[in-house]
Amino acid sequence: MNIAIIGAGYVGLTSAAVFAKLGHKVWVLDTAQEKIRLLKHGKVHFYEPQLPELIRGAVKKKQLVPTESYAVALKSADVIFVCVGTPPLETGESDLSQVFHAAEQIAKYLKKDCVVVMKSTVPVGTTEKIKEIIKKKTAVSFDVASSPEFLREGSAVSNTLYPDRIVIGVESNHTAKILTAKILLKLHEKLLGERVITDLRTAEIIKYASNAFLATKISFINEIANLCDSVGANVDDVALGMGLDPRIGKAFLKAGIGYGGSCFPKDTKALHRVAISNAYNFKLLKAVIEVNQTQRRLFLGKVRRELGTLEKKNIGVLGLAFKNNTDDVRESAAMDIIQWLINEGANVKAYDPKAMQNAKKIIHKLKICKKPEEVALKADALLILTEWEEFKNLPWPLIKKKMRDAIIFDGRNLINPQSIRKYGFKYMSIGRP
Ligand code: UGA
Repeated sequence: MNIAIIGAGYVGLTSAAVFAKLGHKVWVLDTAQEKIRLLKHGKVHFYEPQLPELIRGAVKKKQLVPTESYAVALKSADVIFVCVGTPPLETGESDLSQVFHAAEQIAKYLKKDCVVVMKSTVPVGTTEKIKEIIKKKTAVSFDVASSPEFLREGSAVSNTLYPDRIVIGVESNHTAKILTAKILLKLHEKLLGERVITDLRTAEIIKYASNAFLATKISFINEIANLCDSVGANVDDVALGMGLDPRIGKAFLKAGIGYGGSCFPKDTKALHRVAISNAYNFKLLKAVIEVNQTQRRLFLGKVRRELGTLEKKNIGVLGLAFKNNTDDVRESAAMDIIQWLINEGANVKAYDPKAMQNAKKIIHKLKICKKPEEVALKADALLILTEWEEFKNLPWPLIKKKMRDAIIFDGRNLINPQSIRKYGFKYMSIGRP
């Protein structure tokens, strides 16, 4: 099929690359010239494993065409995916201006019958609004659908190539709904995963509910971890013992400094706003959000308590990204903690395998180091704030020698407490004695 993807972010580009790999002809559109320029050279403006290789191959074969022009992108599209950003507003609601702008442009340049699919994470009812916006301005016949994306940064390509499920929401009282569902089923036919065919609003809620539930698991285990700290129990073993029950599952029970990124913080708040505007008091979700905000503060409190004061203390930080395998620092717990450390007068030096440039754009005062061991020089403490695999095996004896005080605060429970203590470190983590 001919596919147009509007928006060259994580979701848009990964979907574009995977659809091209499956043999569809794909046009990917973004209004940012620089992103398109890079794509034309087979390059991606963010770090995501496997993605540049896929893009490069597809662009070379002309299976994937990057463009800034709606006219070019939509000319022969059978299916149009809207994958633009929906960043949070101060109120917690989603800013839908990019979605509405895309709808206006689609209306203007639509040339042939097609299906417009909403892939951006949007509040309930948005896909219906998009239909209204487009319908007002075009005589071309089209249908709408909602097909939320479940990929994770850092493993976006494999999540999209091997999805657990493909959710397709179509209009419930529309004669074309069977045809629309058929087109989208056909489009995804080479991919594994259960198909969930439902209505538009339900599809939109499935996305929010999934992210909110995962966030709930994380906040829940973080509260258990805090309790473990108080009673001297081990949260890793608690998570293992709980997770072996298939009704609970092991995933997303890793205690730490809380969830970050461009999705969980935004989507939990947006869902909470949806509840408020529908006069529903979503108490559990409110608590999940609060626990997450408190978790980073509690961690800072631990560091402050141990060091007496943070003023003039040299703090070495390992990890800036909101999680491993990405250069994304949006809503990263590490970024908040570093900013608070600096506000309290600490000197912070940091290392991250991929996210240093992005972090520096936000915290200008941050001193960055080329190697993990450099952050240890004269440090009063070392903080592990992102779960990068490479931090598990650092040259610990060398690091200890460089530090003023050999204290490690592990905000991700990344390191084995027994083995690190053997090197003579004082080691503290989250919910582990
Ligand atoms: C999340 C969802 O996992 C995806 O399914 C969804 O498609 C995506 O949001 C989205 O809405 O676009 P992502 O934000 O890329 O994906 O990252 P996750 O791997 O879910 O991690 C989110 C945060 O939770 C990270 O800060 C991570 O460190 C933290 N986390 C994760 C924990 O603290 N503990 C865990 O056990 C798991």
